[in-house]
Amino acid sequence: MLVSENKATLTVGGKERTYDVLSGSCGPDVIDIRKLYGDTGCFTYDPGYKSTASCESALTYIDGEQGVLLHRGYPIGQLAEHSSFMEVAYLLLNGELPSQQELDEFTWTITRHTMLHEQLATFYRGFRRDAHPMAIMCGVVGALSAFYHDSTDISDPEHRIISSHRLIAKMPTIAAMAYKYSIGQPFLYPDNSLSYTGNFLRMTFGVPAEEYDLHPAVEKAVDRIFILHADHEQNASTSTVRLAGSSGANPFACIAAGIACLWGPAHGGANEAALNMLREIGTPDRIQHYIDRAKDKNDPFRLMGFGHRVYKNYDPRATVMQKTVREVFDALKVDDPVFETALRLEEIALNDDYFREKKLFPNVDFYSGIILSAIGFPTTMFTALFALARTVGWVAQWNEMISDPDQVIGRPRQLYTGPTERDYVPIGSR
Ligand code: CMC
Repeated sequence: MLVSENKATLTVGGKERTYDVLSGSCGPDVIDIRKLYGDTGCFTYDPGYKSTASCESALTYIDGEQGVLLHRGYPIGQLAEHSSFMEVAYLLLNGELPSQQELDEFTWTITRHTMLHEQLATFYRGFRRDAHPMAIMCGVVGALSAFYHDSTDISDPEHRIISSHRLIAKMPTIAAMAYKYSIGQPFLYPDNSLSYTGNFLRMTFGVPAEEYDLHPAVEKAVDRIFILHADHEQNASTSTVRLAGSSGANPFACIAAGIACLWGPAHGGANEAALNMLREIGTPDRIQHYIDRAKDKNDPFRLMGFGHRVYKNYDPRATVMQKTVREVFDALKVDDPVFETALRLEEIALNDDYFREKKLFPNVDFYSGIILSAIGFPTTMFTALFALARTVGWVAQWNEMISDPDQVIGRPRQLYTGPTERDYVPIGSR
């Protein structure tokens, strides 16, 4: 970071203080207020962190006004078009695109960690068959810390690398097993002759009784969906992972915390909610009713898959998603009317003053569910796939944080509005 020539001045209680303004490689400058409390006795108030940079990061950059998303400088559209999820994972973790040999070695390493400790399979039997896969993911990923003690010393860089590889490698196995458990089919062991994504698809849709026929177009589409979800700057679940990690918690526990946060319908759960909404709308003639509901301040309904804290323009991931719907429909020869409903809903919303003024555009979750549904995933698995892919971003961000010499435990303060000190009243006198 650079200390800019500009300074910020703040007057509190008639006294003026000057603060440095820091510049990154792109994006808004930030005012360095680390000394503010010591100088003034005041905190800043920013619920939801709408104006707060919580860390320094060199991983992912978003320009929400322009609709730009870069991973280590590379535009998401180019990565989605030309790259693979393993290559993007390497890029996020290491900072540069790999050579062929580096990619082969990385893929080999990840592939060798795909199996789960056999005893973990017994965990699944403790869940109800109708448990949401995200509930299972939170539990099983958190439980990894009880099985891989040899990679939980976060002060050891070697441990950090091994735990990162384990998390990336085991997530498809964990997610596929959650699905298999819900439908009462046997778990499938990983097949390391397949790609990361191909292996996940086989473990999800294959059965031990016969060969799994891996469809190349489906493998490519799901790999691309993983790329589109790999990282997204300091979003709620990533900030959760960083905050959990700032206390020195082990990476498996931190990623379990991230999964819990991702589950919410305002975050990763929106892909499930978006498809449910589109199915509920059903036909284009019913769209206006839902648009009116979304605009009604007295109705809590929101258009799911629409709007974003950072993007005030079209989410570049949604552009790729929309294109991928067509590719998957063509390859699988499916024609789900829900896609027409989605396209029409987008068109109506983008021409509506409410959505235009508030700069609400389709986000990554608007079209992803349509693709995943065409491939055969039930809606409850959508967020589990998001978690699988985002694990790469979470571990990259966690590693970046742990290696940062300025890293300290995250400890926000508050604006207290509760009762002031008062004496305890015995129960008989209340
Ligand atoms: N439908 C209708 N109105 C909306 C929507 C929507 N989807 N999103 C925002 N608004 C309105 C909101 O009512 C508010 O209006 P007003 O200023 O009159 O009070 C205004 O737009 C700003 O909304 P906000 O809630 O203050 O904005 P935020 O940055 O806090 O929330 C969001 C961002 C993503 C939570 C929100 O847009 C939302 O709930 N969208 C639907 C859920 C969704 O699709 N989430 C996935 C996000 S992308 C994937 C991910 O990051 O996980």
